[in-house]
Amino acid sequence: MTDAVQAVNLRKTYGRGSAAVVALDDVSLTLAKGSVTALLGPSGSGKSTLIKALGFVSPAEHGSVLFEGRPVVRDGVPLADLSKLRRQHLGFVFQKANLTSFLTALENVEIACELGGKGQGRKRARELLAYLEVDHREDSYPEMLSGGEQQRVAIARALANEPSSSSPTSPPPPSTASAAAS
Ligand SMILES: Nc1ncnc2c1ncn2[C@@H]1O[C@H](COP(=O)(O)OP(=O)(O)O)[C@@H](O)[C@H]1O
Ligand SMILES: [Mg+2]
Repeated sequence: MTDAVQAVNLRKTYGRGSAAVVALDDVSLTLAKGSVTALLGPSGSGKSTLIKALGFVSPAEHGSVLFEGRPVVRDGVPLADLSKLRRQHLGFVFQKANLTSFLTALENVEIACELGGKGQGRKRARELLAYLEVDHREDSYPEMLSGGEQQRVAIARALANEPSSSSPTSPPPPSTASAAAS
């Protein structure tokens, strides 16, 4: 299995001097393509900081992140177009759904499909909403959806830019979506 993401010796410090907090202290890990990884740890142990470094949101000041074998961040310096990488290859599901309030459920997913650049945005958005069993609410705006429905739409949006790969992967079955939305 190919490596999707590799982190090498990540170190991230917030603040300076006596107020400095070392959030990541020499963290290395490899995530294989097609694998599912759960990151567990007490509050304040650096989980969010690591996700932000791996997701190219807030890079660590030391160490490297490789994407599909290619170094894309080294010592806090981007070596690639990180916005494009995020847009085309990464999906985030936030604790709060963070849907765009003035777009319908369908449009929220469709715009992510279009930004991912894979084409067929509307068709794919409908398929994803159907997988997540929320297609009957495609014309509803976020405020008209329940919390669980909003989460399902957010999961569909996160899957919109599914990374290109030789073997197509499927979105999770609805039972997985229910668990994620609870
Ligand atoms: N923006 C920030 N400024 C200063 N300290 C921060 C900031 N973000 C996180 N921290 C500190 O870094 C440590 C790791 O935080 P975080 O990655 O959010 O942990 P977790 O997600 O595991 O709860 C904590 O001690 C936290 O207080
Ligand atoms: Mg956190």
